[in-house]
Amino acid sequence: MKLPSFGQSIFSEMTELAHKQGAINLAQGFPEFGPDPELLQCFHHALDAHSAQYAPMPGLLALREAIAQDQNRRNALSYDAASEVTVVAGATLGIFSALQALCGPSDEVVILEPAFDCYRPAVLMAGAKPIPLALKRVQDGFQIDWPALKSALNSRTKAILINSPHNPTGMVWTIEDWEQLARILPKETLVMSDEVYEAMMLDGQSLASPHHLPELRERSLRFISFGKTYHATGWKLGAVLASARCTSMLRNAYQFIAFSASIPTQYALLEFMKLRPHYPDRLGEFFKAKRDLLRAELEGSGFRPLSTQGGYFMMVDYSETSSLPDREMATLLTIEAGVATIPLSPFYQGGLVQSGLLRLCFAKEEATLREASQRLRVWAGR
Ligand SMILES: Cc1ncc(COP(=O)(O)O)c(C=O)c1O
Repeated sequence: MKLPSFGQSIFSEMTELAHKQGAINLAQGFPEFGPDPELLQCFHHALDAHSAQYAPMPGLLALREAIAQDQNRRNALSYDAASEVTVVAGATLGIFSALQALCGPSDEVVILEPAFDCYRPAVLMAGAKPIPLALKRVQDGFQIDWPALKSALNSRTKAILINSPHNPTGMVWTIEDWEQLARILPKETLVMSDEVYEAMMLDGQSLASPHHLPELRERSLRFISFGKTYHATGWKLGAVLASARCTSMLRNAYQFIAFSASIPTQYALLEFMKLRPHYPDRLGEFFKAKRDLLRAELEGSGFRPLSTQGGYFMMVDYSETSSLPDREMATLLTIEAGVATIPLSPFYQGGLVQSGLLRLCFAKEEATLREASQRLRVWAGR
């Protein structure tokens, strides 16, 4: 057995409990609302108009061109669609394939924690060694611990896995952070940059990516997710953006892992991107309104919001309300308050029992966010 120490993921566990209890689910990271109706029409159209056979292995070329144009327009990054853009069946599979392609035994992969749950198993399945490194907890959020990061890097460090905007903390890497990383990273170390929330910068900042720095451009892989950007997580469609050299190694593995992503979703996205090229531009504002609403609703509730600069998650500190370990607290709140959340501990390899923090997903309707906050406030006796 490959992963004996891993059980059911915390996301499935809390979602199941939420269903059983009829609780509001602020746990799992998916939007409560569906995709734009026009995107659904594009999907229906794709089913009628196009072949249902295998897509080209790296994705439809026209879609890769649209992705390259979109990245150029929104993030000022240039890609050659043919050799630097690969459409994959979700960012998770992109990350898995990249690790399979590029890492192996005797390689170390640094993972900044708290970390999305798929990273560590993916590193282990590639035969490499995950090196967890904790972000520093500060009053209002989390920060990169540069001295600790520097000492975790060595000649065996094949890659570092970074997620910005970050799940679960909402932290965002600035261009200065990437520059600092470039200064301390060993010359051969790859950067795997999980940017599935790249279209959700909440305070009007522009996205900073390792591809903005010439010194990191050749050896960084960016993973993006159309499931996140277009409110269609179940479509499992994403892309890997990387230099031709990294892309060719990635594709070498990907062709034997999935071969290609489903074709109707690719045609649907292509048509929608042509019809509504500016669609992603509204996401920052859209989720900012939800973040601000949740923050305001939780004011004085006994659940103190930490800072969230990107993505659609917010951490709340409940230490003034309860001293329970976070897993117990999340279970109790699902049962007693009728609000499901995600405890922070499972985002750490060793588990951090006394975090006092829960993750709330705010990709929900206003009424849901208001009702969930009210339930938490009443439960805390505020
Ligand atoms: C940080 C992070 N990376 C990757 C994913 C998965 O992306 P996809 O659904 O495209 O595989 C998620 C989904 O929650 C995520 O939060």
